[in-house]
Amino acid sequence: MTSLPRMAGPLVDSFGRTVRDLRVSVTDRCNFRCSYCMPEEGMQWMPRDDLLTYEELARVARVCVERFGFDGVRITGGEPTVRAHLPVLVGMLAALDVDVAMTTNGATLPLLADDLRRAGLRRVNISCDSLRRDRFAAITRRDALPQVLEGIDAALAAGFDPVKVNVVTMRGVNDDEAVDFAAFGRERGVVVRFIEFMPLDADGAWSMEKVVPAAETVAAVDAVFPLEPVAHGPEPATRWRYRDGGGEIGAIASVTQPFCDNCDRVRLTADGQFRTCLFATDELDLRALLRSGATDDELAGALAAAVGAKWAGHRIGQVTFVRPARSMSQIGG
Ligand code: 5AD
Ligand code: SF4
Repeated sequence: MTSLPRMAGPLVDSFGRTVRDLRVSVTDRCNFRCSYCMPEEGMQWMPRDDLLTYEELARVARVCVERFGFDGVRITGGEPTVRAHLPVLVGMLAALDVDVAMTTNGATLPLLADDLRRAGLRRVNISCDSLRRDRFAAITRRDALPQVLEGIDAALAAGFDPVKVNVVTMRGVNDDEAVDFAAFGRERGVVVRFIEFMPLDADGAWSMEKVVPAAETVAAVDAVFPLEPVAHGPEPATRWRYRDGGGEIGAIASVTQPFCDNCDRVRLTADGQFRTCLFATDELDLRALLRSGATDDELAGALAAAVGAKWAGHRIGQVTFVRPARSMSQIGG
């Protein structure tokens, strides 16, 4: 007789927030070098043996789904598609019957979109911070805008729904492109989401002066394409729809209006460290547990204890804020 999975009930932290969303980073490597994320050269990559195998990743995801009722898994990086055989992992996660999504820079989607879709990936978020080729090249240190635009088209053609485009807005870098991105989103039928620049860059270039408040970006779009708010769930993006029916945008005010009170996510780094916050300064070494023969019960217990200790939230901009020791590419967005 097969035993039914033991449901322990939802994972609720000490602030009453239910955790349901797992983000798994599959690699810290990337084919781009976005200036706000990585230095141009000299990144220290995680040793290959430290990376969780797809089996290990899928096991953690299964425990989260079976024991705690998680309803979504997002695959992140680095750039997740630079890890070999990613559709294999997608298939393993899709078998858990949860919403499987991915954040990618889009450059490999012309090649991979169909395989990923067929393996069971449902949604993709594609990062693109400028629609001007020279500027895109300066931000990512790769002249790859045409490839990324092709990737967006490939994602649409493969049937991902919705396709979202993430734009990190930075003062003096791309803060004049909000309306261009809005027009682009309306034309292609993609949801553009404007994200405030967060202090997670590798080289310390972040400062409060470089943060463009999401409210300012939304106002700029609204002045050209009138918007109205859309009611939204626990996700951090506030949503807006065009009054003329031309689609939707999102705004993620991670700095000016932290959404920590509604946070429903936890993260697993590519080297198997479990983090209860993007900005967490401590981690649970799940890799050690996985590789020392821990049972599902032991894994579930460790996850529950870590979530129980989850803090109220980050304090970007306040004196008590401490930058995490890892940058974005080492945590996963
Ligand atoms: N601030 C805000 N967003 C960032 N991203 C990467 N680094 C930062 C940062 N410092 C975004 C990427 C991608 C997602 C994973 O996170 O552009 O869309
Ligand atoms: Fe790569 Fe994404 Fe970091 Fe850019 S932001 S370097 S695409 S991981």
